Amino acid sequence: MYTSKMLNTDALKGTNIIVTGGGSGLGKSMSKYFLELGANVIITSRNFEKLKATAQELEEETNGKCLPVQCDVRHYEEVEKMLEISIAEFGQINALLNNAAGNFISPTERLSANAFDTIIDIVLKGTKNCTLALGKHWINTKQSKSVVLNIVTTYAWTGSGYVVPSATAKAGVLAMTRSLAVEWAKYGMRFNAIAPGPFPTKGAWDRLLPGNLKDQFDMAKKVPLKRVGHHQELANLAAYLISDYSAYINGEVITIDGGEWLKGAGEFNLLENIPEELWDSLEAQIRAKKRR
Ligand code: HXC
Ligand code: NAP
Repeated sequence: MYTSKMLNTDALKGTNIIVTGGGSGLGKSMSKYFLELGANVIITSRNFEKLKATAQELEEETNGKCLPVQCDVRHYEEVEKMLEISIAEFGQINALLNNAAGNFISPTERLSANAFDTIIDIVLKGTKNCTLALGKHWINTKQSKSVVLNIVTTYAWTGSGYVVPSATAKAGVLAMTRSLAVEWAKYGMRFNAIAPGPFPTKGAWDRLLPGNLKDQFDMAKKVPLKRVGHHQELANLAAYLISDYSAYINGEVITIDGGEWLKGAGEFNLLENIPEELWDSLEAQIRAKKRR
């Protein structure tokens, strides 16, 4: 069921959506579903050849309109140019999905200042650049309704070692989401975020689980539901949050991780490793203490 498509086929009809990092991974999967729901999608990233190939593939698969536009989100002037091209093509933009990211595992003391900056610049500054450019445009043109959806991670609030620049940047994106949800609601903008747990993509797995780490750290084992995410279930949630069906949801971050982060957080969750047959004896020991 969770691998099937959730919304009515015209749920995003006439909606023009910019998806940063839309040429690969989760951005591509979400873009595909938006197109299937009748949206026009602008996919952007640094690699134009990749974007062109993805746009062609998605158009063939969905009969929708997908425009590839090269844009490094780290540079405000490139974002403004990308916005200009998108408006010239579609007239207006209704939604922005800040999905582009950079990340890799590393002990923090091994990072150069530039390595740390690179991740902050893609994730936090990139999200800021796109949000500021679109937000100013929507305010200036008095567009009555628009949506920003940000992709964060569950370690945006827990933090995480070995991906410290990413955790720092995603925490900033989460703060930006909640802040602007309130400040810019008066302009008709809604801001929400999705915090995915593990959803296999080449981009993430190559940088977070290189070599045989994939076998050593089976991500599915960390998840109470004992599986990783399916791209369609993330796409279902993203489409809902962009659509008007979620018109009253603003400033929310929705976790979609099968319970993964809570498993790490709950003090005694590790007791799941205790074999069933030991519980009689443990209970007896606890009750015995009470009688003394
Ligand atoms: C230490 C590293 C490094 C590494 C790069 N650097 N890789 N340092 N360990 N493994 C350093 C470089 O030496 C350089 O610093 C600086 O970082 C910038 O590197 P460049 O290669 O010049 O940067 P750039 O070409 O801009 O590439 C950015 C990138 C790359 C982030 C390094 O991996 C990339 O393009 N990533 C995009 C896609 C991606 O990361 N997807 C995964 C998202 S997963 P110096 O000092 O030498 O100049 C995700 C969610 C995870 O976000 C949650 C899962 C549950
Ligand atoms: P991915 O395929 O590597 O996607 C990242 C995208 O960002 C790529 O398309 C990349 O394209 C683009 N990008 C990187 N730097 C950019 C820049 N400077 N300007 C514009 N675009 C840039 O990885 P993914 O797994 O699909 O990740 C997508 C999102 O989900 C990210 O926000 C990530 O943090 C989040 N997330 C993923 C997981 C997971 O398990 N996969 C879990 C939690 C959160 P180019 O290289 O062509 O620029």
